[in-house]
Amino acid sequence: MNKKGKPYSQIMKELKSAYDENYHFKDGRILGSMCAKPHRVALKAHSMFIESNLGNPGLYPGTKKLEKKVIKMLGSLLHNKNPYGHITGGGTESNITALWIAKKITKKKEVIFPESAHFSFHKACDLMDLKPVEISLDENYRMRVDEVEDEISDKTACVVGVAGTTEFGVVDPIDKLSDLCDGKNFLHVDAAFGGFVIPFLKELGHNLPDFDFKLDGVCSMTVDPHKMGMASIPAGVLLLREKKYLKSISRKPVYLTGVQACLSGTRCSASVPGAYAVMKILGWDGYGKIVKKCMDVTFYLSKRFKEMGLSLPIEPEMNVVCAKVKNPDRIVRMLDKKGWKISKTRKPKCIRIVVMPHVTRKVVEDFIPELEKVCRKLGEI
Ligand SMILES: Cc1ncc(COP(=O)(O)O)c(C=O)c1O
Repeated sequence: MNKKGKPYSQIMKELKSAYDENYHFKDGRILGSMCAKPHRVALKAHSMFIESNLGNPGLYPGTKKLEKKVIKMLGSLLHNKNPYGHITGGGTESNITALWIAKKITKKKEVIFPESAHFSFHKACDLMDLKPVEISLDENYRMRVDEVEDEISDKTACVVGVAGTTEFGVVDPIDKLSDLCDGKNFLHVDAAFGGFVIPFLKELGHNLPDFDFKLDGVCSMTVDPHKMGMASIPAGVLLLREKKYLKSISRKPVYLTGVQACLSGTRCSASVPGAYAVMKILGWDGYGKIVKKCMDVTFYLSKRFKEMGLSLPIEPEMNVVCAKVKNPDRIVRMLDKKGWKISKTRKPKCIRIVVMPHVTRKVVEDFIPELEKVCRKLGEI
């Protein structure tokens, strides 16, 4: 650290140069991220509440009230009239907290989740010395329910289903998992990505199964406002069916002004008004329009992939498009040199595009010729 303070202008210059090194959603080059450019009202709200800290909730009753409203709104989106929960730092924290609750409630140590589950479940198992029981996927990359049935035992702490998998954006048969768990086993649904997509797709007539608290067996859900919710980053939510789940992890430290029932102490609280403001300004219709636009671009991109000679592992169910390739690493590297940030999957090996709202049809028009050149050069097509 420098001994004497530097002038404001010099610091700003340094910050500007670091900022310019970053990629920005608005430039339409980020094609592999599940985060979105936050809505401007979310940024405004976030900056207004920048010093809030719900780790010490008695000092920020206004922010706390907004958090309750966000939980209530998300409950109404996901068929839970009386939801409990809190804002987290994102899907990882929500998933870890869900397994923590499941462990406390059941006093058991095995967690059943699909091979497609986000790696946060492995982090949770590592942290809490839980045993992961991985379930293989069917030909549509969904968790095999018959295998889950075989694996559920008196050691099971939690069964996890994913509504919108990270790699392929598919929805596990949560309805069947709910029947299997049926109040006897703790069922957590990771809808970090799908929570702000599936309800709107269902309304648009897409044939997707029920996946939320409408199903009696669902105990907890992860849903991320900082993904398709257009909120400021970071903003995750853990939603719970019962108060006792929250109580199982609550603490009331004497030196603070209220109860903490979450993993973090001091926590990212400016994201609460960020999420609240964007949900209010967009409403159901606003999100519906965003999801529709993303899906239109998704289907257009799929068509362009196929015209180019690439094959898809699965027709997109959500705004994630993958194309099978022999060498995704080389494609990713070569596109990276041209300023495109795409991602890839493990099995089958694919390149992967997440069609977030900043990935417009114009972006696809610009991207496809560059991808085609790279694929030809590498003999992929
Ligand atoms: C399904 C799913 N769950 C959890 C996460 C983790 O979310 P975060 O990166 O916000 O911790 C992701 C991230 O993409 C995800 O796709």
